[in-house]
Order: sequence, then structure tokens, then C-alpha cells
Amino acid sequence: MTTQTSGERDYFSDHSVLLDPYGYFEEMRARGPVCQLDKRDILMVTGYDEAIEVLRNTRDFSSSISVPGAAVPLPFEPVGDDISEQIEAHRDRMLGGDMVVTYDDARHAAVRSLVSRLFTPSRLRANESFMHEFAEGLVRDAVANGRCEIVNEIATPYVTLVIADLLGVPAQDRELFRKAIDAGPPPGNMDDEEKPTTTATLEYLGGFFYQYVQDRRANPRDDVLTELATATYPDGSLPDMLEVVRLAVFLFAAGQDTSAKLLGNAMRRIADTPALQQQLRGNPGLIPSFLEEVLRLEGSTKATFRLARRKTRIGEFEVPAGKRVVVALAAANRDPRRWDEPQEFRFDRPRIREHLAFGRGVHTCIGAPLARAEVRVILEHFLRHTSAISLSEEKHGKPGNRRLDYEPSFIIRGLANLHVELAGK
Ligand code: HEM
Repeated sequence: MTTQTSGERDYFSDHSVLLDPYGYFEEMRARGPVCQLDKRDILMVTGYDEAIEVLRNTRDFSSSISVPGAAVPLPFEPVGDDISEQIEAHRDRMLGGDMVVTYDDARHAAVRSLVSRLFTPSRLRANESFMHEFAEGLVRDAVANGRCEIVNEIATPYVTLVIADLLGVPAQDRELFRKAIDAGPPPGNMDDEEKPTTTATLEYLGGFFYQYVQDRRANPRDDVLTELATATYPDGSLPDMLEVVRLAVFLFAAGQDTSAKLLGNAMRRIADTPALQQQLRGNPGLIPSFLEEVLRLEGSTKATFRLARRKTRIGEFEVPAGKRVVVALAAANRDPRRWDEPQEFRFDRPRIREHLAFGRGVHTCIGAPLARAEVRVILEHFLRHTSAISLSEEKHGKPGNRRLDYEPSFIIRGLANLHVELAGK
């Protein structure tokens, strides 16, 4: 364990970490791939192998704190070398404890299996047609205007309506969904430690899904919502209605800021690197590899969190039961033991998809194929319909001296807004 030194910035509340989380992670890495934070009773994992070790070790690490993050105190005092029973006894008092990403073991596997029953290849193909149609319209309007704001004006409505389409939300309700999501802040709020995640939007959306599921269970039709309402667990049993509602709502929550901010991060890089922009415009087949490298270098999820439920180890590092762990995905993605010249942007890296931007193990992001497709599709349209995309100097300053606002979140890495100028063809 490191000794108490002064001057360590607090990952969870210090806004200077936001501008350059990568510099902060390198400071932590200098202490070793697993280190004890000075100011909190929390471990941080910055090593690539060590992060995978934690994510795969579901026997000893619980996901129960993956939503609120490691900064929120546990609702109980851990006792002994195995706190599994204490976690189960307090789940309903843990923030986000009713979301699939926080479940462990059999309950997690059962609920997760429902999603693969929904996202069939034919459903995903139909959804991709919707993406093209919707993206085309958004991009044409933006190019006609000569400018747009990417994160709020384009990405947020786009990703919201793509998931709404995937889940079969009726057309008349989609605008209400969009407005509700627009109003909610991203998770991992640095400015209110007691409320790092707001659940008001999720509760509002839950009201809609409750009605859909209730209606389709009583009156099945040939539509996606009926598939959602009647999907069964692998043993053939029908899930509790609330479980289905929570899952549907969580898909919105999980795919919202993450995908919208990934588009912002990718677009910022395209706008600020004209040679790269021309290369992608000339050969759109390179966009998928480009996106993988954006995910590695500036993925929209910086970290996830685990709770040691048994006394265990990460590598040689001893971990007592009850210890909270920050798995710094963004740091693992720049671990020099895994990546050659990790700070360099290179989209011809071998095994480029092995980054941890979507996590690893049983909780690996379910929406990764969707996120990759939706961001690729809209970038294709932006590049096809423009001859040049540049950042607005009025809003963001000149190259080399940019002013960019990042969301105050210890989970999400993403711009609060991104203004671009678009030259048509
Ligand atoms: C760029 C976009 C995205 C990023 C960077 C991202 C990142 C992640 C990460 C890192 C995890 C693992 C969390 C953990 O292990 O604790 C995760 C889980 C999850 N993601 Fe995503 N995600 C994205 C988009 C989406 C989309 C579009 C959806 C919905 C359609 C989605 C749905 C989920 C779900 C349901 C889980 C929980 C899986 C489980 O617990 O088994 N994500 N995501």
C-alpha cells in the first residue's frame, strides 16, 4: 500500500481531472498497475491485464456498485473475509441495485439472456436501415445550415430514437422519450457525491414500458414490444413484469450518453485532423478501424467499479473483502505493457478491437454492436455530404488553443457540446 502523500487529485470530484483524465491515470500508473488512492479507501486498477483479471473474476468481485461508482459509501459495514451475504441483504439499498449491470451470478445471466432474444440479426438489420434514413435527414439539414452542434442537436436525438426504434417504441411516444432524455444529466456526476446518478428520467420511461408490457402480455401482436413482453428465460419461465421494464429502460440509459459522447469524441478528432478526415472520406471502409482507435484512446466510458466480496488478490496485490475498486478502462487502454506507443493514434494496430472500452467478461457491453453501427452510419453520412468539417473557432477557439467543455462525470468521457462548420460538396 502506498503511503499517504499529499497533492493527489481526487478522481471523483476534482474538475482538473476532467480535462485530462489520461494525465491523471498516468500519475496513478506510476505507482503500479493496482494502487491504493490516498484520499479514499478505494483501489484503482490501471493495468490492462489486471483490469481483465478483475472483470473476469466474478467469484470474488461483485458488480453491485457498478452504477453509483466506488465513491458512494456502502449501506453496511463489511465484516469478515466474505461479505456475499451482506451484499445480498442490502441490494435494495444500493443505488442502481435493480439494473442488470449491477446484478451478479445467476440473476445476471438470466436477465442478460433476455436481450439476446430481442436483438435478433433481422431486428438489428431493420434497425440499421432506420439509422441510415434518420442520419441522412439530420446530416442533410445540418449541411444545408452550414453548421451544427453535434452532441445535443444531433447525437442525443439520434441515439435515443435508434434505441426507441430497436425496442419498437410507438412513433407517437418517441418525442416524449427524446425530451425526457434530453433533460437528464449523464451518470457519474462529480458535483453531487450523494446522487451520482439521477433516476427520475428512468422512472418516467419506466411508466411507458410498464404500460407496453402489460398491454402486450394481455393482447399479443406481431411487433417488437410483444417480443419484449413475452421473452422468456432460458428455462422457459416468464420474467416478472418489472424485470422486463427495468431492462428496457436500462437499455436507454446505458446506450445514451455513451454513444452520443462517442460520436462527439470521434467528430472532434475528425474535425481537428484534416488529413485523417480526407483519408476517411476517400475510403469509408476505414471508419470501423478508426472508431476502434477512438474507443481505445478516448472511449466514452472511463471506468467501471467492482466490490470485493471475498478476500482475494489482483496479481500480487492483496484485496480485503469489502474493498471498492475503480477499474480504469481508459487507463488499461493506454497501458504501455499492452500497447506500443499507447498515446499515439494509429488505426492500423494489430488486434485493435481488444481494447476495454466496452468492458470484458460476463458484463461486456450488450450494446457494443449497436453503438459501433450507429456511430459508423452517421459518420459515413457526414463525410459523404461534406467536403470539409471543422471546429467552430467562434465557440471553441483556434487550433492549438481550443476551449472544450467536458461533462463533469467520473464515468463518462465526453464533450458537453461540439460546434462544427460544414462545407458542402
Ligand atoms: C460507445 C458506446 C458505449 C460504451 C462505451 C459502453 C460501455 C459499456 C461498458 C464499459 C459496460 C460494462 C460495464 C461493467 O462491466 O460494469 C457496458 C455494459 C452495458 N451496456 Fe454499454 N456502452 C455503450 C453503448 C451501449 C448501448 C448503445 C447499449 C444499449 C443498447 C448498451 C447497453 C449496455 C448494457 C445493457 C450493459 C450491461 C451488460 C451487463 O451487465 O451484462 N451500451 N457498456
